[in-house]
Amino acid sequence: KLPTKVKLVDVGPRDGLQNEKEPVPAEVKIRLVHMLQDAGLKEIEVTSFVSPKWVPQMGDNAEVMAGIHRKPGVRYSVLVPNMKGLEAALASKPDEIVVFGAASEAFSQKNINCSIAESIERFAPVVEGARAKGIYVRGAISTTVGCPYEGDIAPSRVELVAKLMKEIGVQHIGVADTIGVGTPKKVQAAMEAALKHYAIDDVSGHFHDTYGQALVNTMACLEMGIWQFDSSVAGLGGCPYAKGATGNVATEDVVYMLQGLGVDTGIDLDKLIDAGKYISDFLQRKPNSRAATALLNK
Ligand code: HMG
Ligand code: MG
Repeated sequence: KLPTKVKLVDVGPRDGLQNEKEPVPAEVKIRLVHMLQDAGLKEIEVTSFVSPKWVPQMGDNAEVMAGIHRKPGVRYSVLVPNMKGLEAALASKPDEIVVFGAASEAFSQKNINCSIAESIERFAPVVEGARAKGIYVRGAISTTVGCPYEGDIAPSRVELVAKLMKEIGVQHIGVADTIGVGTPKKVQAAMEAALKHYAIDDVSGHFHDTYGQALVNTMACLEMGIWQFDSSVAGLGGCPYAKGATGNVATEDVVYMLQGLGVDTGIDLDKLIDAGKYISDFLQRKPNSRAATALLNK
């Protein structure tokens, strides 16, 4: 039995725009966030409080957060890798922060410059500091199915990181297929691993679409009862530390599928397509969403 409602977190402004070669001005990011909230998104991952030397694209984090006219009922989340990031993030008053680790040692090193064990030590005070201020803490686990450096990743590795995150007080786990190599059974196995430590209401899927599997992987999770997913408007995205990885599953495509399944998202597909068209026009490309392309050409 499928869930009756689904929550989508649009990660386009963060996961999408962290990977663009040409700088995207803060005002464009802010307008994109406004268009997403007008389309009915209830949570938007806005930016990252990471080192601007590592990811210069997110260097305008505070400016973007300050420029958003917040809509009641919408949650604004930001990535935070360490205490320095938490301090800066807190000043911008997010509703939620995301600490991000990996199921693969090599990816952890490349992405956040430390081992998995060190990352958990680093996250512990971040989680504590955020929760003391009443801010919800989500954890993302990268490379839960495959890693660009280590190849296949066993579900037991996902389970271990989920357990470690649970122990330090992370409230929700996002299971990420960073490089989009997952297929339905493998993604279900990664999810089952996270579900050993988290309730079904506290896990979400984050699927990149590199191999065209993200939508079917989403469906495989819906069939398990999972009802929260990250997706990216116009299929923006990729990770600077996962070469060749393309964007997340397009929000438009997920919404189209869910509408067809009769599952409520609260999202207006036409307005969402406008948001995707806006940012794609700015980036001088076509939206990387099959549903948006079909509906725009109708
Ligand atoms: P490091 O170099 O080991 O950090 O980087 P450090 O503590 O040694 O500091 C080095 C310098 O960075 C210092 O400056 C710090 O002040 C500064 P300096 O003294 O040289 O002038 N610094 C910071 N500045 C601003 N904000 C901060 C911050 N921290 C240190 N928070 C670090 C470690 C974690 C900071 C670095 O590796 C980093 O920023 N990594 C971020 C990588 C990233 O953003 N990746 C993409 C997001 S994750 C993702 O996309 C995956 C996801 O979508 C799920 C999936 O698909 O898999 C979530
Ligand atoms: Mg990602």
